[in-house]
Formats: sequence, C-alpha cells, structure tokens
Amino acid sequence: METAMERWYRATRARFSVRSYASDPAKEQLLALKKAASSLSARGVEIVVAQEEAVFTGMLGAKIRGTDTFAALVSRGARPETAGYIGEAFVLEATALGLGTCWLGANFSKGALKKAVPPAHDEKLVCVISIGVSAEEYAARKRRTIEELTELTRAQYDALPEWKRCAVECARLAPSAVNAQPWSFDAAGEGVVVENVAWNFGWGRLDCGIAMLHVELGAAHCGVFGEWREDKTLNAFLPQSAGR
Ligand SMILES: Cc1cc2nc3c(=O)[nH]c(=O)nc-3n(C[C@H](O)[C@H](O)[C@H](O)COP(=O)(O)O)c2cc1C
Repeated sequence: METAMERWYRATRARFSVRSYASDPAKEQLLALKKAASSLSARGVEIVVAQEEAVFTGMLGAKIRGTDTFAALVSRGARPETAGYIGEAFVLEATALGLGTCWLGANFSKGALKKAVPPAHDEKLVCVISIGVSAEEYAARKRRTIEELTELTRAQYDALPEWKRCAVECARLAPSAVNAQPWSFDAAGEGVVVENVAWNFGWGRLDCGIAMLHVELGAAHCGVFGEWREDKTLNAFLPQSAGR
C-alpha cells in the first residue's frame, strides 16, 4: 500500500494554486478534509475547516470564485515554519483527495474569517487555504533554476546523491507567497539545508516551512528519512536512515 508520504509526494506534482472552482468539495471529501485537519493539527498549529460565503466576497475575497470552503490556519505561538509545514501537508492531502486549493495570505475577508473562526486570546489566524473542485486546468508556474536555488553548477548538482536531487527538485515545486521562493537550498554538506533568504511580506519563514515538507517528501521518495535541526533562518534536514 502507498505510504502517506508517497501519496503526498505524488500530490506535490499535481498541486497548483486554484482560484476558480466548479463547486465546494462533496460531502465525503469534506468529511475526509475535516479528519485530515484534526489529525494534522499539532505543535501549536490548528487547522479548522469551515464554509462561509462572506470569506470570499467583497474587494479582497472576490479573487476566489466558486467555493465557500476553506481551511483556517490557527497558531498558538507556533514557529512560522511549523505552520507552513503542517498547512502544506493539509494542502497535499486535499490534492490527493482530488481537490484544488490555494494558499491565501491576502485574498480573503479578514473580518468574515474572524467571525467564522473566532480566535481565542492566545491564538492568531495565520492564513487561509481555499478548497474546492477545481475549474482550472493544471498550470506549472515558473520557478527559479536549480543552479540559482543551490548555487551549484549543473555538473556539481548532477554529482549529488539521488536523494538530495529528489529533495531539491520536490522543494522547487513548493508554493510561496507571490511565488517569491524566498529560500536557497544548500545540498553540498551532510544534509539539505533550507535557508530563508527574504522577508517576503512577512511570509518568508512560513514559505520555508512549506519547502521543508517538500524536501522531506522528496528524500523519502528516494528511501531516505531523517530529522530537522531547526534554527532561526537555517533549517537542516539530516538523514537518519535509508529505507526501501
Ligand atoms: C503563504 C502564501 C500566501 C499566498 N497568498 C496568496 C494570495 O493572497 N492570493 C493569491 O492569489 N495567491 C496566494 N498565494 C499563492 C501563490 O501566489 C502561489 O503559490 C505561487 O504563485 C506559485 O504558484 P503555484 O501555487 O500555482 O505553484 C499564496 C501562497 C502562499 C504560500
């Protein structure tokens, strides 16, 4: 049977930001999303799946059409990287369920969100993920080149172990606010280091958390599992075991 990691790895290749939807998720999909939200909520991050028309109306919300369904990411003092990492796991699970998604830092009504998901005094509503049946064809958005991302020549990159190339290539597909890709990947040492290199309107560290999950999924696809050594701007994925 396919592992959860391989299911999400496959989803990294199918995911793209969907802003136009044919409908809300079907009933069974909604149940599956709620189940995923509850099992992924951890480490000070809670995912709340809700439906509220007003979140996607008005000046800011109108960019998202055809669905009222969203997941709110709620943080209780979590590192931004953790919110990105856990939120992207949810996005990839939604993708694996056949749904379209879009991370949203701005294109929703903040007032309507606060009413739909009232935060407790120690909670912060970090961002929203729209979810629904996609009305769009897959679109591969532009990414920086491998050479730009790793600061390696093509020959140096090709000489890396397969699992590192897999990790970097999977991370290259990670979404980020305004597609800024505010990271660089240092794959020359023992592991793969994700460095946050830009503030990106305040989303830089959350974006890096998204890329971190992609690094891990790419490595796992090649049978390498490991753990993270986390620092303020440097997050190192260090291999612990090679399975498969
Ligand atoms: C933290 C974050 C915030 C985002 N906010 C918005 C947003 O407010 N509006 C929007 O249309 N897209 C938003 N996006 C989607 C990005 O623009 C998109 O991921 C990027 O352009 C890459 O395209 P792709 O997701 O199709 O690969 C956001 C993405 C992230 C990760």
